[in-house]
Amino acid sequence: MSCPFMSGERREDTISSSNNGSDGCDGGGGDAIQRAAGPSKEDNPALHYHKYLQLEKVLSSQQLESERQGCKVHDEHLFIVIHQVYELWFKQILYEIDSVRSLLSQVPFDERKQLVINQRMGRVVTIMKVVVEQIHVLETMTPMDFLEFRTYLAPASGFESQQFRVLENRLGIKPEWRVKYSKRNYEHAHKGELLAEIKRAEVDPSLLSIVQQWLERTPGLETSGFNFWAKFEAAANEMMRDILKDIEEIEDGHEKEAMMQEHNIAKESFSSVFDVEKHKAMLSRGDRRFSHKALQGALLISLYREESRFSQPFQFLTLLMDLDSLLMKWRLNHVQLVQRMIGGRPGTGGSSGYLYLKATASDRYKVFVDLFNLSTFLLPRKYIPALTPDMQRRLSIPYGKINGNVGNLHIPPALVETDREV
Ligand code: HEM
Repeated sequence: MSCPFMSGERREDTISSSNNGSDGCDGGGGDAIQRAAGPSKEDNPALHYHKYLQLEKVLSSQQLESERQGCKVHDEHLFIVIHQVYELWFKQILYEIDSVRSLLSQVPFDERKQLVINQRMGRVVTIMKVVVEQIHVLETMTPMDFLEFRTYLAPASGFESQQFRVLENRLGIKPEWRVKYSKRNYEHAHKGELLAEIKRAEVDPSLLSIVQQWLERTPGLETSGFNFWAKFEAAANEMMRDILKDIEEIEDGHEKEAMMQEHNIAKESFSSVFDVEKHKAMLSRGDRRFSHKALQGALLISLYREESRFSQPFQFLTLLMDLDSLLMKWRLNHVQLVQRMIGGRPGTGGSSGYLYLKATASDRYKVFVDLFNLSTFLLPRKYIPALTPDMQRRLSIPYGKINGNVGNLHIPPALVETDREV
């Protein structure tokens, strides 16, 4: 945020009326345009730090329930502030994720937008690091201190955080993957417009589905062109044959058996990606999330990430994993805190508390779990299929002489037939 007191000299118009990432005054590109003749102090003489940040509302929103009921408990102030801070960060994360969803869903995709997408995802990841750490502030409160005001806040519960549910849904958590809460659906904790927004977020294109569609368009997947998948399958089979040859030469019986077992597990894993039916079965169980084609795209980007055109998409995939890891760390930190504060007692929202929350810290809540598991299928460099000259050309950054659309790329007319880099 620019300092409000700088108006009239230098002011960054980064606050847009919409969060779709493509409109507002910053051109959707994030590189805030400095408008030479921006609004001056004279345009808005009443603007003051307190007014601009609406601090009157923000700073008067810490109403201690214990105080209202005539028995003020000191630590309740911290408890309220920390939850409010969380909700503000959730709001900012949603704002950035919505913008990324919007930018990435544009077809044809202007690959120059990858930079701003990565920048915004990087911001989400940085916020998540703060969010994960700040829960420790609450550990300065003892369980006895908490017990003093816990009854005052019941039956309110973090389970009722609407933004947290919208965030999960916007990322791509499906209702059927959720851990049941006292044998009830997670929706029961919300009503009215708040519930409607959660339901909308269930059906709107999630980040997971948008990333999937984007990956399906990865250049190099076309069977009539580079045909990555056929090349990859041949390379993986060659690697497995070489491993088998090495195993056959092992003389020690125990070692040979152990290596053979390992080999069979690897073979089974590879067959789960080469056999489309097996992949579909994993999808229906929720063990895999991406379509078969999207998985191919993710693998293609990961294996050739050093090629200029794939380096930023690869960074993006890494950020998605960072986000998932940090959300998992948040769940783990939260469940540790809960056990420390209430032990095995049920939650104020009516769940079993610790046991329910422990069950949520699992792969079923990892939206981009396929990206983590991709490592199973990475090949040592010597087996990676060589790029054809045509594929090499498509993956190099200077697009000067190319006309029109190439794979994901839409080249603006102004750049066609020039030597400018996109
Ligand atoms: C003393 C500190 C805390 C305790 C004892 C606590 C306890 C609990 C419990 C027992 C639940 C399960 C639902 C229930 O039965 O109530 C829950 C859920 C939740 N809490 Fe906390 N919590 C604490 C701090 C926080 C903080 C600081 C946040 C930040 C926003 C938070 C956010 C949530 C969320 C989002 C859920 C839903 C999780 C899910 O269903 O996956 N909690 N909490």
